[in-house]
Amino acid sequence: MCGIVGYIGNRQAQDVLINCLTRLEYRGYDSCGLAVSGSSLEVYKDAVRVNELAGAAPQLEGTAGIGHTRWATCGPPSQLNAHPHLDCRGRIAVVHNGIIYNFDRLKQELLAEGHNFAAEVDTEVLPHLIEKYYRGNLEEAVAAALHRVEGSYAIIVLKADEPELVVARKGSPLVIGLGDRENFIASDVVALLDYSDRVIYLEEGDIGVINKIDIKIKRNGADVLRKEHKILWTVAEAQKAGYEHFMLKEIHEQPKVIRDALGGYSQAAEPLVELAGAGGTDIDSLLILACGTSYYAGMVGKYIMEELLAIPVRVELASEFSYQGQVRAGTAAIVISQSGETADTLGATRRLKEKGCPVSAITNVMGSTISRLADRTVYTRAGPEISVASTKSFIAQLVVLYWLALSYSKVDIRRLADLVMAIRQLPSKVQQVLDKEDAIRRCGQFLSGYENVFFIGRGINHPVALEGALKLKEIAYIHAEGYAAGELKHGPFALLGSDTPVIALVVRDNTYEAVLNNIREIRARGSPVIAVVGQGDEATIGQLADWVITVPRVEALFSPIVNSVVLQLLAYYTARERGCPIDFPRNLAKSVTVE
Ligand code: M6R
Repeated sequence: MCGIVGYIGNRQAQDVLINCLTRLEYRGYDSCGLAVSGSSLEVYKDAVRVNELAGAAPQLEGTAGIGHTRWATCGPPSQLNAHPHLDCRGRIAVVHNGIIYNFDRLKQELLAEGHNFAAEVDTEVLPHLIEKYYRGNLEEAVAAALHRVEGSYAIIVLKADEPELVVARKGSPLVIGLGDRENFIASDVVALLDYSDRVIYLEEGDIGVINKIDIKIKRNGADVLRKEHKILWTVAEAQKAGYEHFMLKEIHEQPKVIRDALGGYSQAAEPLVELAGAGGTDIDSLLILACGTSYYAGMVGKYIMEELLAIPVRVELASEFSYQGQVRAGTAAIVISQSGETADTLGATRRLKEKGCPVSAITNVMGSTISRLADRTVYTRAGPEISVASTKSFIAQLVVLYWLALSYSKVDIRRLADLVMAIRQLPSKVQQVLDKEDAIRRCGQFLSGYENVFFIGRGINHPVALEGALKLKEIAYIHAEGYAAGELKHGPFALLGSDTPVIALVVRDNTYEAVLNNIREIRARGSPVIAVVGQGDEATIGQLADWVITVPRVEALFSPIVNSVVLQLLAYYTARERGCPIDFPRNLAKSVTVE
């Protein structure tokens, strides 16, 4: 949801800002802009992507500046609504990520006092409020302005003639990259990888004053010290490495991602995190909360945990839990978020904490807000995920959930040993799926001609069907629905026909015969069927389905891993055939930091 960046040092700020914004584009890409302070404060912005802005912008001279790449929440994408926004005299520039709920009231007040507004966005009240409260000290003016604001923000403020940037955060992330006589600011560390591997994460309510040498942070008016952290991600990990899209690169990284996710855990008996109920009580149930793809990982987690731990597991959308979710004593909660910044998941985490429920977080991003809110954190170690469509982080989340379940497992020692051996074989099984890329690509070309698609699976593969449908919608712009296979005949059958293909996940577990019957029923209604089947079943199922994609045989519990990789590639090649902008799908942003 919007990326913001800032620079102060000895280099030309414009070059640094453009480079950082390019890396942050996955947070939003409907418009972008820069403000640079040199002999004067100059702004250039437009409703274009960062590379177009870089080509069109004049040279803005100056060694301090701020930049923004936008995902519109308030006011449509346009040149005027793009950030930075300015005060009446064009001397104070602000970039903002977040939402100001009371902006209308503030705007009316400022208009009545004679301030002039140019755009339709909530952010514009900020430079005008800062202008209103400015009495010679920018930090004090920012603090006074933020005192009036209801909502969430990460902001960077630049004022003409002042050799400093003022930053503040509440509800949206902000990180400072430390350099030698220069400092960098960004919404997340990926933007900073070219310049620094030493960072400071701002905490909720912090206001910082940053010049090229010094960083001073205050909270509630008092000085605070924030720890320096070392970033382990590298620039290479955030580049395409010859792949046409980040999504394809990230799909291909998955054998390594599984190995890395498993890397730290050598013993099945070694718990990843300690799961406990309120007040340290033994757990008798689990609650998993997440959004989007992470929610589907949680749904797979329910099957894994219920089978291996033999306790009930509830999975809820974090965005819904905030309205009425209840938690019993004895329940341990797990929140899952790739970015660790999803507003709905953070809201649900806060709510759990208010109820005294211990929370374990599964996240990919060190220093993310969720890692600081939760009682314990397990990192997925998937490396930076740039593509808006999540792939490798989903697989890494599953691996962590498997390992968590194995470490608490109630199954007998022989079965446990078999499962541990099977999980260690997953990287090579996934590689075997990747080796079938050509066949999946051809199937994607076939699928690209349709506008409606169903995905079906049963049991542990039901959430995989939901995730497959999400991927196809998200990047190929095809209407896709994931269904528990048995549910199609309770309504959706009305939509079946030759123009509605169905993708069926067929696994050799207790769902096998039922799914075969479902395929027969679907074929009888004329829908083309694409079946994803385990090795050895291709001949039997080939008689029922129009397309068969074979995956290596794995223990049924692990079938979501291999099946998901097929569906990721299928979505990718379908979208590619349709000419869609795969890494940056319309209307989406990677990190959804507003509720
Ligand atoms: O960072 P998170 O895992 O909390 O993000 C949750 C969803 O926004 C995310 O999974 C989204 O659904 C993906 N873009 C889907 O590919």
